[in-house]
Amino acid sequence: MAAANVSLVTVRDVESLRRRIQGWRREGHTVALVPTMGALHKGHITLMERAKKMADRVVATIFVNPKQFGPNEDLSSYPRRETEDFEMLNAAGVHLLFAPDVSVMYPASFATSVQIGGIGEQLDGAHRPGHFNGVATVVTKLLLQALPDIALFGEKDYQQLAVIRRLVADLNIPVDIIGVETVREPDGLALSSRNAYLTADERAKAPALNAAIATAARAIAKGESIADATAAARAQILAAGFAKVDYIEARHAETLAPLGSNAEPGRILAAAHLGRARLIDNVAIPKA
Ligand code: PAJ
Repeated sequence: MAAANVSLVTVRDVESLRRRIQGWRREGHTVALVPTMGALHKGHITLMERAKKMADRVVATIFVNPKQFGPNEDLSSYPRRETEDFEMLNAAGVHLLFAPDVSVMYPASFATSVQIGGIGEQLDGAHRPGHFNGVATVVTKLLLQALPDIALFGEKDYQQLAVIRRLVADLNIPVDIIGVETVREPDGLALSSRNAYLTADERAKAPALNAAIATAARAIAKGESIADATAAARAQILAAGFAKVDYIEARHAETLAPLGSNAEPGRILAAAHLGRARLIDNVAIPKA
């Protein structure tokens, strides 16, 4: 293979990250930040492409953040493939990769955490205690390290996006948070680094999650009760072969409060277990 045209630079410490970004600032460039945990796929790359359209310079981060994994979760097995990730980011025209070690983000003396109540305590927050505090802590650090004009996050992790909007408003962090629509496989399965955990048989069953919540969303828009529509979706997901549904809920699209009626902007959010994987997904409830 001919040598690829490499222009992407990797930095691993905060001082180098800041020096690069300050150089761009002096040249009058705007800066976008796209945080990830690596094992990149087309969903991540869509965020990079959107970032390129919205800012002059794009900084991607790869950091598998230990603070957002529970004690029995997949921190040690989470896929890590920085060489392939680098190639994908370079091909997408990303300008800078920040890939710090754990000791850079959390030196031994580290003692602070950003705690998110309310919006972060329900749904995934209830099923994964401490998860959103870990996300809030690392995202606050990344935003303050890079001080970008904008930062982009996927609607795939809909509650995470809402939590990040909340913390940025609450802590007056001067950055615009941009949400990007979920990128899916042709059969509806949302792209996720964790889809790699699925066996071929499980992969064939996985689109049932999206199909079930999309059906429920259409039914609610047509006037079916929220309780009936979500109960039917739960049954459909279990019938497809998922072992357990953590939750399936219709919520207000912005506050994530329980949805009062289908006149409000609504979102269905769900999490369910299939083999080794815990899959999450969400869809908008169409306007009636
Ligand atoms: P990660 O799961 O690597 O996702 C990085 C970003 O890509 C997130 O904003 C996520 O919502 C987005 N993303 C993932 N799959 C997507 C898809 N199919 N379509 C669109 N966007 C998608 O989310 C995290 O990492 C971490 O929690 C992080 C924010 C980096 C903090 O550690």
